[in-house]
Amino acid sequence: MHRPEPADGPGPRDLTRAAALRLREAGVESADHDAAELLAFALGTTRSRLPLVGHVDAAAESAFDELVSRRAAREPLQHLTGTAAFRYVELAVGPGVFVPRPETELLAGWAVERAQALPDTVVVDLCTGSGAIARSIAAEVPRARVHAVELDEHALRWAARNLSGTGVDLREGDMATAFPDLDGQVDVVVCNPPYIPHDAWESVAPEVRDHDPDAALYSSGDDGLDAMRVVEEVAGRLLKPGGWVGAEHADAQGESAPQVFATTGRWLDVRDHLDLAGRPRYLTARRAG
Ligand SMILES: C[S@@+](CC[C@H](N)C(=O)[O-])C[C@H]1O[C@@H](n2cnc3c(N)ncnc32)[C@H](O)[C@@H]1O
Repeated sequence: MHRPEPADGPGPRDLTRAAALRLREAGVESADHDAAELLAFALGTTRSRLPLVGHVDAAAESAFDELVSRRAAREPLQHLTGTAAFRYVELAVGPGVFVPRPETELLAGWAVERAQALPDTVVVDLCTGSGAIARSIAAEVPRARVHAVELDEHALRWAARNLSGTGVDLREGDMATAFPDLDGQVDVVVCNPPYIPHDAWESVAPEVRDHDPDAALYSSGDDGLDAMRVVEEVAGRLLKPGGWVGAEHADAQGESAPQVFATTGRWLDVRDHLDLAGRPRYLTARRAG
């Protein structure tokens, strides 16, 4: 009868269990998930294939230990692995760019559906960051013509990397004055702007506070809605009559963010949408004729 070779080093289950304990003690909410992701990364495999790994050699164990220490110091998981999954795509991320969030996948999904509804859609992603929303629309609606703008030079470099070869027209600049050549010609404007109110700074998790760029979080005034006011103006300028805008906001802005649109008289069907946890997450509105 064939007997397996004796293990030469600890197995993945023991390693991830001990690492998850360390991460939990450091306040990491997704400790089990992150421990498994980091071990898979150290071994050059995927989380789902970890059970197939017999034992972990000393070099991989030491690399894993270093990654767990950095995660326990609250470096974002995605900065350690260098990638973030977003809908059906993988994005390169790291210092200098906002890590795309699962809740934004809903807004991107809404934009994809709007883009699919027309034969030849023009879409603009304001505040593109890593390029997550623009890249998803380009991947899921290949016939759409997608444009994206980003103000920050560091974020722009990540966007350029993630949007290379996708056909997305990426531009550097302020959304307030972006795309004058597209005025009145756009079908869908989508935006995940900075929206954290100044007084919410202390409630933000260390991964976000210490690693996401300030320009992605706080550059939106005391109430966090200055950027939303700009989005309202820019979308009003870019959209065709009947065109749609969708924009993400903080969960505390479920009434105040739609109000930015409802009070100008330029919009029909202003409504707010919940995320999967039931929190107000993004608004949509249609340009009046
Ligand atoms: C919250 S992040 C969103 C990034 C990406 N859309 C996502 O959902 O992951 C906001 C981004 O807007 C950029 N930004 C802030 N103000 C801007 C402006 N006035 N014009 C263009 N981009 C801006 C920031 O640099 C940051 O990359």
